[in-house]
This record gives sequence, C-alpha cells and structure tokens, in this order.
Amino acid sequence: MRAQVVIVGAGPAGLMLARLLELAGIDAVILERKSADYVLGRIRAGVLEQGTMDLMDRARAGQRMHAEGLIHQGVELSFDGDSQRIDFAALIDRHVMVYGQTEVTRDLMAARQARTIYEAEDVQLHDFDGKPFVTYRQNGLTHRIDCDFIAGCDGYHGVSRASVPAQSLTTFERIYPFGWLGVLVDQPPVAHELIYAHHARGFALCSQRSPTRSRYYVQVPADEKVENWSDARFWDELRIRLNPATAEALQTGASIEKSIAPLRSFVAEPLRFGKLFLAGDAAHIVPPTGAKGLNLAMSDVAALADALIEFFGENSAAGIDGYSAKVLSRIWKAERFSWWMTSLLHTFPETGAFGRRIQRAEFDYLAGSAAAQQSLAENYTGLPL
Ligand code: APR
Ligand code: PHB
Repeated sequence: MRAQVVIVGAGPAGLMLARLLELAGIDAVILERKSADYVLGRIRAGVLEQGTMDLMDRARAGQRMHAEGLIHQGVELSFDGDSQRIDFAALIDRHVMVYGQTEVTRDLMAARQARTIYEAEDVQLHDFDGKPFVTYRQNGLTHRIDCDFIAGCDGYHGVSRASVPAQSLTTFERIYPFGWLGVLVDQPPVAHELIYAHHARGFALCSQRSPTRSRYYVQVPADEKVENWSDARFWDELRIRLNPATAEALQTGASIEKSIAPLRSFVAEPLRFGKLFLAGDAAHIVPPTGAKGLNLAMSDVAALADALIEFFGENSAAGIDGYSAKVLSRIWKAERFSWWMTSLLHTFPETGAFGRRIQRAEFDYLAGSAAAQQSLAENYTGLPL
C-alpha cells in the first residue's frame, strides 16, 4: 500500500491532521493500535480555545460543537477562601468553550472519509531519514505502507518518539509530586463557570461536561490509590477545599468515573527527524491545570497540515523546514502558563511557609492587577496560532 502521509495515532491530533489533509486532497492514512470504541471511551478534559473551535470549523466538524458546547466568558480562581473572577470578555474580548475531548474525537471520526486502520498492532517506523515506510500487523499478517512523510500523533507512550535515536532528541521534564483524583457525576455543575481552588489541603477544580454532568478534581499525593477514595470521602474532601457557599451548593451523587492522573511537564526537541514529524502528546505533555493539552495538540497539527499542504501543493519545503521551531515556540509558552497555574494553585509542602507566602502574594497581585488578569486571560483563552 502507499500513502502520501502515514499518521500514527487516532487521537485528537491524528484525526484533526488527517481531516485537514483530506480536505486538501492529500492521501493520509491513520494507524491506530486501539479500537474506535476504546478511543472513544477515554475520559478527557475539554476546554477549547478559539483556535481549536476555528480548526473544528475548518475541518467541517464543528456543527455539534456549536450546538452543544458551552461558551464560558471567565473562570473563578479562589485562594484560601478568597475568590477572583477572571473576566475574559471584559479583559480581552475572548472566551473559551467547554466541550468534551471525547466529543471532539467523535466529531472528527464522523467527519473522516478516508482510511483509519484500527487495531493496528506493532506499528514500526522505517527509514524516515530516507524513503520512509511503516509496517504493522493485523489479523496475523504484516502490512507495509510506503509514504512520503510520517506524522507521529501517538501520544506520550507512542512508538514514534521512541523510534528516534536517543542522541537525536533532547527532552525536558518536570514531574510533580502529586496527581489529580477526578470524578465524573451526573449532577448539574456547582457553578456556571469553572472554579480553580487553592486550599492548604490541596488544589481542587470544579468543571463540567454539560448542564447535567460535572467533573471534579482534588489534588492527591503522586502515589495515592483510587481505591482509597470512596465517593463519600471524595465529596467531603472537595467540600473542605471549596468556599463555604460553593461547598453548600455542591450537588453530589454516585461517581460514573473515578481515576487518578499524574501531572508532568514534558517537551521533546526537535520535532522533526527527516520525514518524521511529532505532534501533540507525542511531542509534549502539560499539567492539566491550564487546560492546554488538547489545544496545543490542535495548534501543532494545524501548523503541520499547512506545512504539508504547502509542500504537496507548491513544492515548497519552507513550512516543513520551519515546523519544529514554529510549534516549539508556542509549546514552551503553553508549558510556562501550565506550570505557572500549577505552581500557584497546588500545595508544595517542600517549599515550606515561604513558598506558601509567595503563592498568596501571587494570588493577591493577580486579584489587584488588571494587567495580571489580562495576562492570565490571554494565555488561558489561547495565544495566537
Ligand atoms: N501505534 C498506533 N497507535 C498508537 C500507538 C502505537 N504504537 N501508541 C499510541 N497510539 C495511539 C493511542 O491509542 C491514542 O489513540 O495514539 C493515540 C494518541 O492519542 P492521545 O494520547 O490522545 O494524544 P493526542 O492525539 O496528541 O491528543 C492530546 O489527548 O491525552 C490527551 O491531554 C491530552 O488533551 C490532550 C490530547
Ligand atoms: C476538565 O473538565 O476535565 C478540566 C477542565 C479544566 C482543566 C482541566 C480539566 O484545566
């Protein structure tokens, strides 16, 4: 088999890249190791920047997003009981949309016309410095796809970054000493907008999926086990960490999903190796505090799609030659913001009383400065693509 582009991974990055290439008449095939149902079964955050919403429209996959997504004009930050709303609309005339990543994935799957090969086992990348091809196994048979380019959209644990010789790659990483214990519940959200809370016992987040489904998180130690947390214990801890009025308004219920996610910051450099490009979680990981993971994956593949469209359409290599430097500039700004939000809102016992005073001062400065709030707003709603 032959394709112009082989995309490894059918998550949001791979699906969006494939759709943009398809609309430009470029033959791209996706190899995904899991089944479509498995991919759709993943519970993931969904705060979309305007750039991501625009990409969904460009992919002609935005209809349901506009119909069902929730426009949010701001978020609330609270610190030991004090609250500050960040008014995106007033500060920078921008907003975000709450629309689950699972729904983004579903819409992109539905829009896709070309080949997505699910349950492709043992995907291997070959000769991406020369004449690239990809092999995979299915139904006991080994298949080969010759191509012009390979896009590694296979996430942090994927095969693409792992196929790059170690000496050709530099990685940067910060592993946080805590995780997020998350609960999904079929109850109305406690507030119209998201609430990011700092409490001496740890961070908490009140988010939502729809007017009748909510998502809540509490910071837990990195080695915590989800089986140690009954629903009752989770709700009690969440209430302690929220302002009394919010705690009082909280509608609880049986969790329909409960899990712990580790937090890390990670970037690989560069993101191009001959005919192989990395994008999305294969290239970087951000702590979820800034809601950047999905949006960063989308901005990567927007740049990669434009570069490949330019190459095939105009026989120009300018875009593909400039891809890595271009997306890394934006990646590091998102990494900085995600690190900053995480540093402000979580407890870090190792930084002691001085560290907590610095966090309090950071919050007080934010609460008292329109410039600081504008900075948060422009980063949270998304820097220009
Ligand atoms: N072969 C084929 N497919 C693979 C392989 C492999 N060796 N390894 C991983 N995959 C698939 C995974 O099954 C997954 O469906 O690649 C896909 C990668 O998708 P994501 O991990 O969702 O990464 P990405 O598309 O970059 O989206 C980033 O997803 O993880 C969240 O927080 C993250 O919101 C961000 C978004
Ligand atoms: C979520 O709804 O899961 C969510 C929202 C915002 C974040 C992280 C997660 O920053």
